[in-house]
Amino acid sequence: MASPAMESFDLVITNGVCVTASDVAAFDVAIKDEKIVLLAPTGSLASANATRIIDAEGGYVTPGGIDAHVHLQEPPMFGKGTTSDNFESGTRSAIAGGVTTIVPFAPQQKHEPSLLKALAETHDKARDNSYCDYGFHLLVGNPSEQALAELDTIPQEQGITSLKIYMTYTALQLRDDQILSVLLKAREKRILTMIHAENGDVLNWLTDQLEARRLFDPKYHSHSRPPILEAEATNRAIALSSIIANTPILLVHVSDPGAAARIRQAQTNGQPVFAETCPQYLFLTRDDLESCSGFDGAKHVCSPPPRDRASQDAIWTGVKNGTFTILSSDHCPFNFDDADSGKKACITEEHPVGRFRHIPNGIPGIETRLPLIFSSSDRLPLTKIVEVSATNPAKLYGLYPRKGAMIPGVSDADLVVWYPHDTGRSITITNGALHHATDYTPYEGQTVNNWPRFTVLRGKVVWDKDNGGILGDKSYGQFLKRLPTSLDGIWDTVDKQGPFDVSAF
Ligand SMILES: *[C@@H]1O[C@H](CO)[C@@H](O)[C@H](O)[C@H]1NC(C)=O
Ligand SMILES: *[C@@H]1O[C@H](CO)[C@@H](O)[C@H](O)[C@H]1NC(C)=O
Ligand SMILES: [Zn+2]
Repeated sequence: MASPAMESFDLVITNGVCVTASDVAAFDVAIKDEKIVLLAPTGSLASANATRIIDAEGGYVTPGGIDAHVHLQEPPMFGKGTTSDNFESGTRSAIAGGVTTIVPFAPQQKHEPSLLKALAETHDKARDNSYCDYGFHLLVGNPSEQALAELDTIPQEQGITSLKIYMTYTALQLRDDQILSVLLKAREKRILTMIHAENGDVLNWLTDQLEARRLFDPKYHSHSRPPILEAEATNRAIALSSIIANTPILLVHVSDPGAAARIRQAQTNGQPVFAETCPQYLFLTRDDLESCSGFDGAKHVCSPPPRDRASQDAIWTGVKNGTFTILSSDHCPFNFDDADSGKKACITEEHPVGRFRHIPNGIPGIETRLPLIFSSSDRLPLTKIVEVSATNPAKLYGLYPRKGAMIPGVSDADLVVWYPHDTGRSITITNGALHHATDYTPYEGQTVNNWPRFTVLRGKVVWDKDNGGILGDKSYGQFLKRLPTSLDGIWDTVDKQGPFDVSAF
């Protein structure tokens, strides 16, 4: 056989089993100049001319995880609580858990008229402080005239094509008419609107009722937010989107089967309604909160709260049958044992078990998301796991096929190499082994059967579990300008329908 001067690569991964959203197949992967450049028959690149060759030993090789729901270094939204992870510690935790791209929030506070200011501030926090690549979602706390006008240019000029609004939380809740104004602008500018759907007025009223009976324990957090509040708000969000000529929306962190069924119905009717769920609704239940003694339940306080076992099963079904487009962590960490800015900041002499209404809402999970879901191949096909944790987030948030795929010449070399998938492996999750700056994990003691062995970001090994752990550098992560969602050709469908026309009612 003629042997021309051997092509050279920066990195080769040999003897792996590649998993994408569509295939599971053994291939070798060659990387050059930050891109995947070649997929070749398994073993054929074992002695290629490469700066480095990783032998995957039969382990799975997947596109790097994309976590599209992450809160880092945000200003306090719950009185005293401040997120425990900044960009540095949050993204360090990300790469150790196989995540190569995150989309955190650029939060606009209620008293601020400008979105561009919030964006500039978030850029300043992230720049040279991120171990992984990142984009931003706008978090619209105040849809002022100025903010809505800024949205005219933000997608094109800033590369930000999604925003999030809230139907709850005093500091962030929008009225229905404000939501309509945001949706209308979003439709015109091809921005995907993410909606936190819980009825804030009702849950505040229920909270007052609980407090009037002196029920302050963390566990009453879930009593104050029954599933119907989520189903009602989800239904309302879908109705509001339909009024704005079916503008695309994504319901974030869905936990309730009633909400999921309503979403499914809208999808069946052809409405561009997408949904996200999170590990806390697949791996935790209300019992984790209820069974804790004293204040420990606060470790599981997030919104919506984890539900019962039957709900958990229904959410698994929804992931499997496509109701849920993506699985994100909603990493929103607060230290537990911290009386100044963590969960314990709500404990006072008058309230020795705290006041659940003042517990900062949120839990950490950026590092455990992929190991947990990858250990669930008895419940979900591997291709589905990659789809909801990498490929669909990339499509939904305008990063595909640069991210979330393994297309030679096109996709960034963002990859996770897993340990060989022998059945006996068992890894117990402990907070001490994680890389965030938070003093607990709600998954303490849960077992997984695999963990990212190597994480590769644009061709560089940034995590090597057995040899050095974190190898990346906090100035390596790049800001990603994003395009409008490419999922299901959704904006073409919207264009065909024509603009919102109030006289059409
Ligand atoms: C390997 O690649 C390097 C850099 O391109 C080149 O200098 C060298 O000749 C190559 N070796 C072989 C055996 O082809
Ligand atoms: C798919 O999952 C959703 C959400 O759990 C559920 O409402 C729906 O009934 C399921 N559909 C089918 C066909 O299983
Ligand atoms: Zn969130």
